[in-house]
Formats: sequence, C-alpha cells, structure tokens
Amino acid sequence: MKDVRTRYGRYAVVTGASAGIGAEFAAQLAASGFDLALVARRKDKLEALAEQVREEHGTTTEVIELDLGREGAVTELLRRTAHLDVGLVVASAGIATAGPFLDTPLADESALLDLNLSVPMRLSHEYGRQFRTKGRGGLVLVSSAVAFAAIPYLANYSAAKAYLANFGQALRHELKPAGVDVLVLAPGPTATEGFAGAEGIDFAKLPMPAMSARRVVRAALRALGRKPLVIPGFPNRVNDFLGKHVTPRRIQTAMYGTLVRRALRTKGPSARTAGD
Ligand SMILES: NC(=O)c1ccc[n+]([C@@H]2O[C@H](COP(=O)([O-])OP(=O)(O)OC[C@H]3O[C@@H](n4cnc5c(N)ncnc54)[C@H](OP(=O)(O)O)[C@@H]3O)[C@@H](O)[C@H]2O)c1
Repeated sequence: MKDVRTRYGRYAVVTGASAGIGAEFAAQLAASGFDLALVARRKDKLEALAEQVREEHGTTTEVIELDLGREGAVTELLRRTAHLDVGLVVASAGIATAGPFLDTPLADESALLDLNLSVPMRLSHEYGRQFRTKGRGGLVLVSSAVAFAAIPYLANYSAAKAYLANFGQALRHELKPAGVDVLVLAPGPTATEGFAGAEGIDFAKLPMPAMSARRVVRAALRALGRKPLVIPGFPNRVNDFLGKHVTPRRIQTAMYGTLVRRALRTKGPSARTAGD
C-alpha cells in the first residue's frame, strides 16, 4: 500500500468517515501514508478520528462537516478540497431503508437514491475529470453484495447498489487508459454502527456472518488498481457464485424474501400479505 499515495496523490477524500467502513478506510489509508479529507455530518467523530491518525501516523487531516444529501453538497465538497492534491476518493457514505416498499416514506427512499447513487456518480464525474487531467487517481465506490440479487424488503437499497456496481465496473474500463483506477467494493454483512442500529431490520437475524470492517477494507485496498470488483469474504463469494451461476433468479428472490422478512423489526401490512 505504501506506493499507492505516490501513485495517486497526497490526499484521500473519504465520505462517511465518521463511522463504520468509511472510518476504517480513513484509518488504513492514514497508516499507508495518505493525508485525509474526512466527510460526514458528525464533526465530533471526524475530529476524534483526525486526532487519532495525527497521533498514530502524523496524518494531516481536513475535517469537512457536510450533509451530502443536501442539494449542492458535492459542489461544496469540491470547493472545500480544491486546494488539496486529491489522489483517491472513497465514496462510503450510505443509508439503508428496510421494510415493505409501500410502507416506507417516499422521502426516505428518495434520500437513499440521492446519497447512495447520485452522490457517488457526481463524485466520480467531478474528481474523475481531475484525475484524468492529471493522468492518475483512484475511485472506490462502496456498493454491496446485495447488488447482485433482487432483495425484497431491501428493494430500493439493493437496486441502488446494483447501479453502483455496474456503473463502477463500466467506469473502470473507461478510465483505465487514462491512468485512473476504479474499484467497486461489494461487502456482505459488515459489523458497523449502521449494521447494528439499522432501523427496520435486525441484520443479526440473517443467517450470514458479519465480517469486520477492518478485513473488508484490507481486501479493498489490496484489490485497488488490480481488480474492477471485490467481494470480501469467502462465504460472500460462494453466495455470489451460487446466485450468478446456480440458483435461478426467481428462486433466489423468493429465498431472500423469506429471510429478510424474518429479520424485519416491523413486518407491516404488505409484508404480511407478501409472504403468505
Ligand atoms: N455494514 C454493512 O453490512 C454493509 C454491507 C454492504 C455495504 N455497506 C455499505 O457500506 C457503506 C458504509 O456503511 P456502514 O455500515 O459503514 O455505515 P454506517 O456505520 O452507518 O456509516 C455510515 C456513514 O455514512 C455517513 N452518512 C450518512 N448519511 C450522510 C449524509 N447525509 N451526509 C454525509 N454523510 C452521511 C455517516 O456519517 P454521519 O452520520 O456522521 O453523517 C457515516 O459516517 C454504505 O454505503 C453501505 O451501504 C454496508
């Protein structure tokens, strides 16, 4: 990893750096010599992380308190990082909605599309152009293992992650000749604050073991520049293989429907009918 900063540039911009996978990216990138621009809404968490990496690695950090779901947020982020030699962007900020689609507020589903889909697309466009001009840079798009299936009760979330997985792999092909690496990270269940406290669903009730964010990020940083897509964890890769090559999509969707419905915190009227 040490040579990655030299290859890409001095600063890594990490969205969703106040918790979970984003915070772990920040920690591992700092350990490998990157300076950081940390982005999220909770400034106190970002400042604590900045202090930690400064003490441990001498990292210089810009703390950027920003609600990326707000109109114009990506433009503001660009303005606030314009003075930095940005070489890597990790788009990890994300939210999930869970439950029967018709019973979740439309505003929540729209906010999910803004943050999980539109923001990474915009970041890729803006920073991607800068990287192309410089002839170097890297983009990491945090998708999910659910991107490769149609998941009832996580319908909008899994569909948005599918967008990101396809978008990122296509972009990798386009940008590779310009010296820009794109990696899609598709983690399975990962033990984070968001995972534990998710509204609507108790992920612990799903029969998939959660990986640590540390292992997920380590796998991503190993794959960066070498692969278009990484699914960390052997069980997740087996699951992915079965879904793509063995289990018919209709049966896979029905299986996920049963499993996820069992893990819902509130089943709601549509869920009751759907499963019966
Ligand atoms: N955990 C899993 O099992 C899992 C599995 C597959 C994929 N993923 C994906 O991995 C990514 C990170 O997930 P995680 O589990 O690490 O989540 P997490 O622990 O809930 O952290 C989410 C991060 O996103 C930030 N965020 C949320 N809304 C934001 C907004 N409007 N503006 C700016 N930042 C915002 C949060 O910061 P603030 O609250 O401070 O703003 C936080 O730093 C997500 O894209 C998620 O979909 C997670």
